[in-house]
Amino acid sequence: HYGAFERPNGRMDMKVAENGVAAMASCYQKFDPAAYLQYNYTPPRADFERKDSIVPWKLACLHRAFTEGDVSGELLVDIGSGPTLYQVLSGCEVFNKVLLTDFLEVNRQELKRWLQAEGGSLDWTPYLQHVCKLEGRREKAAKLRQVISDILPIDVHRPQPLAPGALPSAGADCLVSCFCLESVSPDLAAFTRALGHIQKLLRPNGHLLLIGALGESYYFGGPGVKIPVVPLNEAQVCASLQQSGFTLIRLEVYTLPEDMRVGVDDVTGVFFVKARKDYGLA
Ligand SMILES: C[S@@+](CC[C@H](N)C(=O)[O-])C[C@H]1O[C@@H](n2cnc3c(N)ncnc32)[C@H](O)[C@@H]1O
Repeated sequence: HYGAFERPNGRMDMKVAENGVAAMASCYQKFDPAAYLQYNYTPPRADFERKDSIVPWKLACLHRAFTEGDVSGELLVDIGSGPTLYQVLSGCEVFNKVLLTDFLEVNRQELKRWLQAEGGSLDWTPYLQHVCKLEGRREKAAKLRQVISDILPIDVHRPQPLAPGALPSAGADCLVSCFCLESVSPDLAAFTRALGHIQKLLRPNGHLLLIGALGESYYFGGPGVKIPVVPLNEAQVCASLQQSGFTLIRLEVYTLPEDMRVGVDDVTGVFFVKARKDYGLA
């Protein structure tokens, strides 16, 4: 389990891994959902008039992945939802149940406010409208509120990231996860282990849709809240997927235009992965 740290003095190295994870958890105690939404989910990063804006790119990738016909089943689980909903807007039309998850209570609360139509830190209406347009639909909010069945605590660093019994024993039919694993892991080994942990939540042959940052070493989770990130390249993403029991179906890469580099992080690009859990893995 701590493979990358196994050395003659195995116990010390296990501590190193645990300390890295604990340090990340303490960084997240100051995460500010409203600020994070403001930094990443308003223009220029979410400009629906621009094709080269980052959010429309992500929504187009997800739309395509969920409408190709191979992704289907009963249950979709979003890993590390944060305070955001965009990542399940296409999936909510394909699956009867959608589970949202996050490590932080403040993020789960933010999502609950939207579910209960109490308003929140961000108006998701332009997002709902944009995805409706992609799908040729008129309405989505009611459907989304109907299919989201729960918002659960999660810790991807645990071999069992969700509470026992949270999922049916067969596992989820599909996982989506955006900007979570690389921004909660102290290093590449922890990122790969976390990918292995979430793989166990998926049924054999189930799909993983993974979106994440390339070349990022930090981001701001609020004013002055600098959170370290594992800087990834495409080859590392592919190798980690393979090591964690996934077969890559497609990798797409977005390069940030200069004017999207707005000082809230040092991300240079975004990857989108469609993968499948290897057949024969329980
Ligand atoms: C960069 S945000 C991504 C949020 C959202 N998915 C998005 O696309 O914007 C990273 C998220 O990971 C969550 N997180 C922190 N530690 C975690 C852990 N150990 N396991 C799972 N999620 C964690 C944070 O609370 C935060 O919501």
